[in-house]
Amino acid sequence: MERKKTWLVSCVPSRACLTASLLYLLICSVRAETCPDLCTCAEDSATVTCLDSPEIELPLDVSQRTSTLILRGANISALRDGAFSANGSVLELRTLRLSWNNIQVIEAHAFRGLPRLQRLDLSHNRLTAVSVQAFCGLDELRFLWLNNTLTPRGARELPQALSTGSLRNLQTLELSGNRLKAIPIARFDNFNLSTLVLTNNSIETIGKNNVSSLNEFHGIRVYLSMNPFRCNCELEAFYYWLKNDSRCADSARVLCKLPEAKSGLPVEKLRKEDVDCVNAELEAVSYVFLGIVLALIGVVFLMVLYLNRGGIKRWLNNIREACRDQMEVYHYRYEQDSDPRLANVAV
Ligand SMILES: *[C@@H]1O[C@H](CO)[C@@H](O)[C@H](O)[C@H]1NC(C)=O
Ligand SMILES: *[C@@H]1O[C@H](CO)[C@@H](O)[C@H](O)[C@H]1NC(C)=O
Ligand SMILES: *[C@@H]1O[C@H](CO)[C@@H](O)[C@H](O)[C@H]1NC(C)=O
Ligand SMILES: *[C@@H]1O[C@H](CO)[C@@H](O)[C@H](O)[C@H]1NC(C)=O
Ligand SMILES: *[C@@H]1O[C@H](CO)[C@@H](O)[C@H](O)[C@H]1NC(C)=O
Ligand SMILES: *[C@@H]1O[C@H](CO)[C@@H](O)[C@H](O)[C@H]1NC(C)=O
Repeated sequence: MERKKTWLVSCVPSRACLTASLLYLLICSVRAETCPDLCTCAEDSATVTCLDSPEIELPLDVSQRTSTLILRGANISALRDGAFSANGSVLELRTLRLSWNNIQVIEAHAFRGLPRLQRLDLSHNRLTAVSVQAFCGLDELRFLWLNNTLTPRGARELPQALSTGSLRNLQTLELSGNRLKAIPIARFDNFNLSTLVLTNNSIETIGKNNVSSLNEFHGIRVYLSMNPFRCNCELEAFYYWLKNDSRCADSARVLCKLPEAKSGLPVEKLRKEDVDCVNAELEAVSYVFLGIVLALIGVVFLMVLYLNRGGIKRWLNNIREACRDQMEVYHYRYEQDSDPRLANVAV
């Protein structure tokens, strides 16, 4: 306490001290202005931008005050542990944009040292491997863009990586253009999701379990257009969710692809019968039943024919006889008409 007082007393009026602090400020700002090679730095917005430099390497030596880092067109095949914070330093970074960098692998703790990060854009890469601990430490993350970036293998690994407890503040998850066949989220209650974008994928059906998970989240808005929905009775729960609920923000553009007859029809415009499993089952059962009955009738008919083969032969013979008799009558009449003498003989 005493020392501090003396320092204050001795420092404030001193000219030498003023000069020293000015010098310090100058040094400080010069230091802050260091900008990584191949990047441009906007000091006022604390933004570092590095575009189209395939040779760039991580970690970049950026000022700790940097709040936005934009890296595009680099050739970063893997984001390794601590890819953005050298030597365990902590950055103030709020926004990290990493689209179009040919990133294929995200290793565990890749985003170490970025506890304030709110926006992470990993779109337009080629993720084949995402560590279970890839997103660890991103406790403040609000927006995660993963559009047009997942290979099928990456998509299989994603649910695990998203299961980390770190992402509990995540509000917007963008997953469009990934050829996803299912929602790659194991649990929705890990997040605080308000927007889930699943447009332009390969989702054919959304099962009952996913619908009931979605039902638990009242604030969520889900986008699902441009998926090839198969409109059969498996879609029943989803159909009612679309109809009864406004949580699908683009429900009018959620269309059937199959069956052919319903292609292009909005799912919510289907009739109840179209997605009614009991109805469909009954229909199937009734067709099977009809088939069996027809087959039985056929078999019985063949049996009757077979058992009656003697009688049928006789019957056929009778017919033949009758025909012959008839023919003979005609013959007779004909002959009678032409030659009365022969007719007499025949009789
Ligand atoms: C990107 O890096 C990989 C190796 O990490 C290399 O094989 C590839 O040629 C590079 N591509 C470009 C465009 O530089
Ligand atoms: C990290 O540590 C290495 C030596 O281990 C040093 O050369 C480098 O300058 C350090 N980087 C930062 C950003 O502190
Ligand atoms: C993909 O994400 C980016 C964010 O970088 C966004 O601007 C873009 O609109 C998204 N694309 C689609 C098709 O949603
Ligand atoms: C849909 O996603 C594919 C990649 O899966 C992409 O090539 C295409 O441009 C996207 N279409 C639209 C309309 O965003
Ligand atoms: C959604 O459905 C998929 C496939 O059936 C399943 O793997 C996933 O766990 C489900 N997610 C939720 C949150 O219900
Ligand atoms: C949706 O609403 C219909 C009536 O409009 C009702 O019969 C059906 O049970 C509801 N389904 C769900 C899942 O709430």
